[in-house]
Amino acid sequence: SASAPVVIAIDGPAGSGKSSVSRAAAVRLGYGFLDTGAAYRALAWHALQHGADTSDATAVLDVLGDFDYAISLDTTHRWVRVGDVDVTTAIREPRVTDAVSGVARVAPVRKAVNELFRRLVASAAHEGVVVEGRDITTVVFPDAPVRILLTAAPEVRAARRSAESTDQDAAKVAAALHRRDAADSTVVDFLTAAPGVEVVDSTHLNFEQTVDAVLNVVETTMGAR
Ligand code: DC
Repeated sequence: SASAPVVIAIDGPAGSGKSSVSRAAAVRLGYGFLDTGAAYRALAWHALQHGADTSDATAVLDVLGDFDYAISLDTTHRWVRVGDVDVTTAIREPRVTDAVSGVARVAPVRKAVNELFRRLVASAAHEGVVVEGRDITTVVFPDAPVRILLTAAPEVRAARRSAESTDQDAAKVAAALHRRDAADSTVVDFLTAAPGVEVVDSTHLNFEQTVDAVLNVVETTMGAR
């Protein structure tokens, strides 16, 4: 069909299981998947590559000028490129994670990146795209037919992050998570659901149950359209 893909918008904090849950939901729906955090990470990587001070908005804006970025919407073959460099794994390095909040704080950067997301989704060949981030339900696709906020209690999020981290120090992982939540939530509020946004709380759910809960919301909401 030539019509625009259906958007399933999913927001939530780090450690909510958002990224893996969203991707699994996309697989089950046969939809594409867009990890918008990866785009902010790619820009942070690009800024570091230029030796830019990522706490300086002007410096970040400067490197946005030649930010040539591409991301796969394919759930089975995921990659992120900046220019002709494959940065799929590099954007997960701690130095990038440390720099990304500074980059994501710059309002004109968000505006430009959001435009990119909308163009990318509009031109997707998929029937639908699951778009995951912090402000997808509120800013990027506020009119999406399905909008979900995926949450989990802070201690559960910290425990999950700790389990997937190579850092053995759970307290350190929890502190880093808390620090990034605090920095990120000054930019967008991803801890409270906007009107019309369905909350899926994964505190007491395992991975499969969380995916099922998300798909339930999709089914209920789309079925009622
Ligand atoms: O989900 P993540 O950890 O990969 O996100 C990386 C950073 O990008 C995170 O610090 C918050 C920011 N981000 C954002 O501000 N808006 C989005 N839509 C997605 C991510």
